[in-house]
Amino acid sequence: MSPVASSNGAPNRPEENSILVTGAAGFIGANFVLAWLAHDLSAVVSLDKLTYAGNLENLASVANDPRHAFVHGDIGDAELVAGLLKRYRPMAVVNFAAESHVDRSIHGPADFIATNVVGTYRLLETTRAFYDSLNSPEKAAFRFLHVSTDEVFGSLGRDEPAFTELNRYQPNSPYSATKAASDHLIRAWCHTFGLPVLVTNCSNNYGPYQFPEKLIPLMIHHALSGLPLPVYGDGQQRRDWLYVADHCSAIRAVLERGRIGETYNIGGASEKANIEIVHRLCDILDADRPRQDGRSYHQQIEFIGDRPGHDRRYAMDAAKIASELGWTPSETFETGIRKTVRWYLDNPGWVGRVMSGAYRDWLQKNYSNR
Ligand code: NAD
Ligand code: TYD
Repeated sequence: MSPVASSNGAPNRPEENSILVTGAAGFIGANFVLAWLAHDLSAVVSLDKLTYAGNLENLASVANDPRHAFVHGDIGDAELVAGLLKRYRPMAVVNFAAESHVDRSIHGPADFIATNVVGTYRLLETTRAFYDSLNSPEKAAFRFLHVSTDEVFGSLGRDEPAFTELNRYQPNSPYSATKAASDHLIRAWCHTFGLPVLVTNCSNNYGPYQFPEKLIPLMIHHALSGLPLPVYGDGQQRRDWLYVADHCSAIRAVLERGRIGETYNIGGASEKANIEIVHRLCDILDADRPRQDGRSYHQQIEFIGDRPGHDRRYAMDAAKIASELGWTPSETFETGIRKTVRWYLDNPGWVGRVMSGAYRDWLQKNYSNR
């Protein structure tokens, strides 16, 4: 494959079939870019604003890869994005860029409105102008894939069936409300303007490079640091967990074979209560990295005040993507969680470097008064 650009952003000629990935320095975006390049599918232009959650170190292994270019910027910066589209002429835009943490959306929703709603709107408009400039074969090949969440469907009762693509949107948190809003914009830009969009709604991800504000990496980090393992409420909230590499393979399947204008639910068929996850992590750590005092990590578990408006249960029915596109996850929860714990044990430097002062301020804000 010939180069699209050097990672230092030096101009180069456009590469056929390149893709523009937004939010590429975050958890799932980085996993997606690394896997895309590992499969040698085509060149990638990565765009990221590098908020607290964006970390260029996640893309360090492709920093000098001639198939990859990193651009620092905001999806809402129409001039910048229009310039990138004009210069690289990607065959697809894959939009991961978002504010993604529910607890942060409760403490400060403004950034969520700015990026998830207004940023997505601007990205759509910029992409629409680019799409309108394409010739017919280019138009036929072009896709805009928007990465969304199961949280837009709200909370399930204990015995209700898992969410299908036909469930009503009932978002309950500022995060899920802004993701729902962005999903609606995507749909409208397809229906009204003919932009060839695809939407994926995925369950909770876990795996390498996840910022340690989210449940699984937070518990691993706190366990190893001798800190309390803070379980919200009674710990019986249920989530469907998917290993991040499986989410990335699902997105590739949708990009390749998904039907324009359709939404696809993605899940791991691994529904678990939060407290089960925390116990499992403690068991694995007890075996793989026992505490020096001979006691168990389970003793660090503490139940603390609940998250306001905390959704009780999410579960995904991924039958549509399985039957239409032949996608199913490769990892079970057991294999995925073992890989994840191993990655965090093997990469203490990565965790140490994301523990900035701002991160410590966040822990203080979210956990001190519960
Ligand atoms: P993340 O918070 O780890 O990464 C988000 C990335 O977007 C960061 O690198 C950040 O710098 C970047 N970003 C934020 N605002 C931006 C802007 N205005 N312009 C450009 N870049 C910007 O999130 P994640 O967990 O990797 O999630 C990625 C996407 O997947 C999100 O859209 C999220 O809603 C969705 N999703 C996440 C999960 C999950 O379990 N993590 C599950 C389903 C869907
Ligand atoms: P999180 O990883 O924030 O993902 P989401 O809210 O998008 O599902 O949280 C997963 C679950 O874990 C959620 O029910 C909240 C719970 N949780 C805790 O109990 N303690 C914590 O410290 C965190 C961060 C989450």
